[in-house]
Amino acid sequence: MSNLLTKQSRVVVLTGAGISAESGLKTFRDNDGLWENHSIEEVATPEAFARNPDLVYRFYNQRRAQLTHGEVYPNEGHKALAKLEAQLGDRFLLVTQNVDNLHELAGSQRVLHMHGDLLSYRCCRSGQVVETTAAYDRHSRCDCCTPANSIRPNIVWFGEMPMHMEQISSALENADYFISIGTSGSVYPAAGFVKEANYYGAHTVELNLEPSSNHYEFSQSYYGLASDVIPQYVEQLIG
Ligand code: APR
Repeated sequence: MSNLLTKQSRVVVLTGAGISAESGLKTFRDNDGLWENHSIEEVATPEAFARNPDLVYRFYNQRRAQLTHGEVYPNEGHKALAKLEAQLGDRFLLVTQNVDNLHELAGSQRVLHMHGDLLSYRCCRSGQVVETTAAYDRHSRCDCCTPANSIRPNIVWFGEMPMHMEQISSALENADYFISIGTSGSVYPAAGFVKEANYYGAHTVELNLEPSSNHYEFSQSYYGLASDVIPQYVEQLIG
């Protein structure tokens, strides 16, 4: 198969929960969408945190433990993206809605976590972010303030502003390829990136198990398991 990329090609990849499904992490909308009989929306909002902080800390402590106890590993999809980055260097940007660290474990370096990440906490007062692999709860305190303040998961909850938006917009403006992977296309602003990339003239590609809500906006689509379609598509791109 021919190499589709030129020496100047810039690539922006967006990933969602589908890329981590085969690593053993539940997606948001493919199963019953429940955690201990609570909907994900019920534990992933500022209102939920104000109403029942113990529940919210517990939810994220469990999810962090899955990563730190070595229960989940990157799959061939994550690895193929690390391989693509190795070819492109700083002409590559990976934007993920996922809060796991499987891209980094696979070797990806240029990763923006637009919905935050599980392996850090944020001071509720100063907003300072600190990396951690440890569990924390409502008794835990920050190191940055005097007196010390409470800390919260460094996660962008429903109703909060996603992170790194300026950097993402500027990468989309300059992208030759925009590749959306394993996302249902139902949560904005990420669901709007394809429109932005089309507007600036990128070739837009969707790799997913099934057509997403906005599948008709992509110039090309490949459907199948992430661990199959991503390596195949990356092979097409880099030859
Ligand atoms: N390979 C490829 N795609 C898959 C696989 C797989 N093995 N398994 C599932 N998928 C696809 C599903 O078909 C679906 O379209 O992945 C997509 C997952 O969609 P969602 O569960 O909606 O996840 P995502 O799009 O990442 O959600 C966006 O919503 O709940 C919030 O903040 C949360 O970041 C999340 C955001």
